Amino acid sequence: MKPKNLNKIIKKIFVNLGLSSSHASIVSAAIVEAELVGASSHGLSRVNMYCNRIKKKLINPRPKIKIKNISQSIALVDANNSIGFVAADIAIKKAIKNAKKTGIGLIAVKNSGHYGLSGYYAEKAVKKNLIVMCFTNAPPAIAPYGAKKSLFGTNPICFGTTTSSKVPFILDTSVSVINRGKIRVAAKLRNKIPQNVALDKFGKPTTDPKKALEGVQLPIAGFKGSGLAWMVDILSGVITGGNHGGKAKDPFDDFSGPLNIGHLFITIKPNLFINNYNQRIKENIKRIKKLPKIKGVKEILYPGQNKYKKYKQSLGKNIKIPDKILKELKKLY
Ligand SMILES: NC(=O)c1ccc[n+]([C@@H]2O[C@H](COP(=O)([O-])OP(=O)(O)OC[C@H]3O[C@@H](n4cnc5c(N)ncnc54)[C@H](O)[C@@H]3O)[C@@H](O)[C@H]2O)c1
Repeated sequence: MKPKNLNKIIKKIFVNLGLSSSHASIVSAAIVEAELVGASSHGLSRVNMYCNRIKKKLINPRPKIKIKNISQSIALVDANNSIGFVAADIAIKKAIKNAKKTGIGLIAVKNSGHYGLSGYYAEKAVKKNLIVMCFTNAPPAIAPYGAKKSLFGTNPICFGTTTSSKVPFILDTSVSVINRGKIRVAAKLRNKIPQNVALDKFGKPTTDPKKALEGVQLPIAGFKGSGLAWMVDILSGVITGGNHGGKAKDPFDDFSGPLNIGHLFITIKPNLFINNYNQRIKENIKRIKKLPKIKGVKEILYPGQNKYKKYKQSLGKNIKIPDKILKELKKLY
């Protein structure tokens, strides 16, 4: 299906569930973009879940979002259980505005929900010539190092900067070996998952996505990944007033309450300490790209280059929708 048509369909699905036209547009744009950058784990495969949560009154379709200005740079957004995309959209726009004004923007969000891809918001700031960091916590998926039970989410870490070329540098990575969405999609489409990414509930390695969802996902780099997941939980949950320490509910399986998770957006003007950032970042990337390459590697890529390429290739083409997900969308439309 053409991205433009898909956008209209997704928008209508959310308007039918009570979202305002502008909020539904924010949601559909983020979902379609996830498909365009090849992150289908955070695209159409989640529409049914968001809709279920709206129907069960766990996502507020008409939130009264409050912004508390703490200084010219800092603000706290109370999302009032909006769908995460809407709260994140407001917060990143505010972070951009504050950084432009003062040099730095620091926006915390509480009482929010799953907002999709961190890189989607980072790109908005990078397009305005800012450096950006985005954090969000997520429901339990990873066991803290040494623990038997999962508690941390796959808690993505995202850093973006302008590069002085049109391709932004965006490192946007979950702290699990693969993101949970990929495991969910594999379970839905009855595919296997790679080895060494998850353990079943008895602690045995598994390639069965259903068993992996009942068990634990493995963090990147052992205790280091577990530490990063913990850091993101503190930055997104503890500091913002959002849920933390394993209290965020699983959006797919747990309908006992809203997610109430938190996000944190930090935006920085690149020329705060020097006046030639563009030149310096260009030189930095050039030096790294010029390094001798290992066998089989044609080009040393910087983070975000792969997604940008995928996005360019996808534009104007039809988005492929697996039958199972198409059936779900037809029921919702
Ligand atoms: N909202 C949530 O709760 C939540 C939770 C987890 C993940 N996510 C999102 O899921 C998305 C996917 O996460 P992921 O961990 O699967 O990311 P990924 O493994 O696809 O990519 C991680 C990073 O590595 C970079 N990269 C990939 N190949 C590269 C190469 N050859 N050279 C250099 N850099 C390269 C990518 O550009 C990206 O920045 C992210 O956008 C993340 O924000 C969201």
